[in-house]
Amino acid sequence: MDYKISKTDFGEKPNFEYPKPAFLEELGEEGLKKLFSDFYDLIVDSDIGNFFPQDEEELEKIKAHNVKFFIEACGGEKHYSNAVGHFDMLKTHKQFSITEKARREWLGCMEEVLKKVDISTDAKESFWNFLETFSKHTVNVDERQELEDLVIKKG
Ligand code: HEM
Repeated sequence: MDYKISKTDFGEKPNFEYPKPAFLEELGEEGLKKLFSDFYDLIVDSDIGNFFPQDEEELEKIKAHNVKFFIEACGGEKHYSNAVGHFDMLKTHKQFSITEKARREWLGCMEEVLKKVDISTDAKESFWNFLETFSKHTVNVDERQELEDLVIKKG
């Protein structure tokens, strides 16, 4: 399977499709919880680890909370909506400065854990495509603009 990542056009809000039901059916809720637990363990040691709590207990809370969102997005129980109500992807991530590079680091950690999961390529691909597209909503820092500002300041 090709873990393709396409470039975010800064400010775009791309249409996306939720993962196929087969993804959660094949992986199961426990499998999805394990996937995200492994994912966050990788994230905290990655280049974007500074965004996330390093404290073990805090991280466990994040794992338990955030996976609810993904269970729901994959067609499972609505535990996240019940706990949080309406979810705004842009607002949630606004407090962090997320560049395209940071998004790619996030997706890179996901690729690493997904590779170890033994389910059909079709199911895996539909989950990857959802994340790849949906994650574009988190990019809120325009790297090119930052670079231009830097050049102007220097010049
Ligand atoms: C498809 C991609 C993504 C989805 C669906 C997603 C979803 C979420 C959700 C549901 C939360 C919890 C909000 C709450 O408090 O209830 C969250 C928090 C957060 N996200 Fe994302 N996110 C994605 C990508 C990213 C990326 C690319 C980054 C950074 C590079 C990022 C950084 C964070 C951080 C730092 C938090 C706060 C800590 C935490 O609760 O995990 N996210 N995200």
